[in-house]
Amino acid sequence: MSHWQELERKYFMNTVERLPVTLVRGQGARVWDENSREYLDFVGGWAVTSLGHCHPVVADAVVEQVRTLIQVSNQFYTIPQIRLAELLVQNSCLDKVFFCNSGAEANEGAVKLVRRYGSRYLNGANEVITATGSFHGRTLTMVAATGQSKHQQPYIPLPAGFINVEYNNIEAIKGATGSQTCAVMLEPIQGEGGVNLPDDNYLAAVRTWCDQTGILLILDEIQTGVGRTGTLFAYEQYGVEPDIMTLAKGLASGIPIGAILAKERASVFVPGEHGSTFGGNPLACAAGYATLKFIIDNDIAGNAGRVGQYLTTGLERLKRRFQFITDVRGRGLLVALEFSSDIAQSVVMACLSDGLLINRLKPNAVRFMPPLIIGNDEVDEALSILDKALSTIVS
Ligand SMILES: Cc1ncc(COP(=O)(O)O)c(C=O)c1O
Repeated sequence: MSHWQELERKYFMNTVERLPVTLVRGQGARVWDENSREYLDFVGGWAVTSLGHCHPVVADAVVEQVRTLIQVSNQFYTIPQIRLAELLVQNSCLDKVFFCNSGAEANEGAVKLVRRYGSRYLNGANEVITATGSFHGRTLTMVAATGQSKHQQPYIPLPAGFINVEYNNIEAIKGATGSQTCAVMLEPIQGEGGVNLPDDNYLAAVRTWCDQTGILLILDEIQTGVGRTGTLFAYEQYGVEPDIMTLAKGLASGIPIGAILAKERASVFVPGEHGSTFGGNPLACAAGYATLKFIIDNDIAGNAGRVGQYLTTGLERLKRRFQFITDVRGRGLLVALEFSSDIAQSVVMACLSDGLLINRLKPNAVRFMPPLIIGNDEVDEALSILDKALSTIVS
């Protein structure tokens, strides 16, 4: 164990099982550890470094902004915030934006927003229907929204107002809808829950149900948004428009940021009802603007779609060779590989020792969520390391 890893054990809360590597530098899709060892990074800061590590447009924007204006109160107008909001609105189906600092905070704000909508237009309705297998964040309220008991059990009692129903089952949503329901909240593709894709027409059926009943649809695109699945937002691929969408992760390519976007009719906060000290500060928004502008101008979402397809095809090839691979699934550069037994940790460790970082999604599945700027060459390199790792595991 290195010096830093010993210090971590001494001083840091025990919230994560880390891999035995101390990363000190990154560039593009590569990171280096304290011993100058290089790794190909297919974890990407957990689906965050959309433009790769330290992309020049992000670095330049941050450096310029950090020398100009980092933080002022949201009582004042600031230009980076307004420019990023305009870019988001011009490139999505939503009309209004609120900035915060993380995914969980964005979802919390979205839930406040639908409750406010309920108190104003739905006779005080305040319940939100969410799906089993979902993941919406780590705050207490988002733990209640997250339909996974392993995240909920240790923290009981949880805030009220959430009903978790079976994913991909429109009848379950219909059955759970009552006079107290104000919204349905879903990830278009469930990320943490297993890279679970929606059945054909599921999201469209949910949209129709929300329209018929007058309740709102929140899409949590914190993991799927900003190009990850091959379009700027995943909803575009499913023919639905949310009333509210939340973003975070890849929006500023590594600088912390979150956002709530809403249609005009759902944008019901009035001054004083919601806020954030750091949310939308010039530094984060300058990074967000540089990231999003680059993604849009260079069709990085299209690249994620094409390279993601190349990755998926390569994984399918491995699946035909290794009988213990049971599934390859995903969209764009959000892809999971599932095994017939709990070998994911061994696969992650074997890849790590050969210089590839991947994520253990579940005991029997790994996930790939590299920067969106990678090309087929990096995929070939990752596939060859993975191939070797899988061969070691069978033999
Ligand atoms: C879909 C989704 N929502 C919310 C979150 C929480 O985001 P954060 O960790 O920034 O609070 C995550 C994080 O993985 C996520 O994948």
